[in-house]
Amino acid sequence: MPALKIAPSLLSCDFARIGEEVRAIEAAGADLLHVDVMDAHFVPNLTIGPPVVAAIKKVATKPLDCHLMMTDPQRYIEAFAKAGADYLTIHVECNAPIGETLAAIRKAGVKPGLVLNPDTSLDAARPWLDQIDMLLVMSVWPGFGGQKFIAKVLESVKAARAAAPNLDIEIDGGINEQTAKEAIAAGANVLVAGNYVFSGDYAQRIKSLRVA
Ligand code: DX5
Ligand code: ZN
Repeated sequence: MPALKIAPSLLSCDFARIGEEVRAIEAAGADLLHVDVMDAHFVPNLTIGPPVVAAIKKVATKPLDCHLMMTDPQRYIEAFAKAGADYLTIHVECNAPIGETLAAIRKAGVKPGLVLNPDTSLDAARPWLDQIDMLLVMSVWPGFGGQKFIAKVLESVKAARAAAPNLDIEIDGGINEQTAKEAIAAGANVLVAGNYVFSGDYAQRIKSLRVA
């Protein structure tokens, strides 16, 4: 299994002080910065777009892991690549032609990834497992931070780890000290955490996920 990485979700940071928050979370030990992009169509919420990603990039030293909760992500690849995204993950449930969009992301110089909603079978992603740099398994329904972990997605994580022993497998939603243990045991190695990390001492919370 690849090395464990902690990816705090900036969705839970103080947006009025985003630059300071990025510096603080990196100093606290973040390995990746998870950026939740919501288009008010694929999910009801509306959040961060390319100009804000570009602003984050000015202060960030860690890679930007941009999670595109978008119906038509293929229309925004260039914009997010220019803004400085290091990873662009697209939902397998979106409207884009998946293979073409993953190829376009790579062509733009960005690492492509696929995301599965809690009810989507790993089978939906299997055809592309060798074309992606990260598989993200959602452990809540996308749209909002601070929701309760859906334990049954651990079955998808296990199946994904069996199918792709060297792939970065990320889990997103409801991660805390306890659910992190379960996720790691199932085979996840990239842990997204928003509410948990940003509602306490950043360094202590990140450390607690690492020792889980
Ligand atoms: C949910 C987002 C998550 C979210 C995680 O739509 O994709 O990244 O911010 O937040 P917590 O850790 O608070 O569940
Ligand atoms: Zn996310």
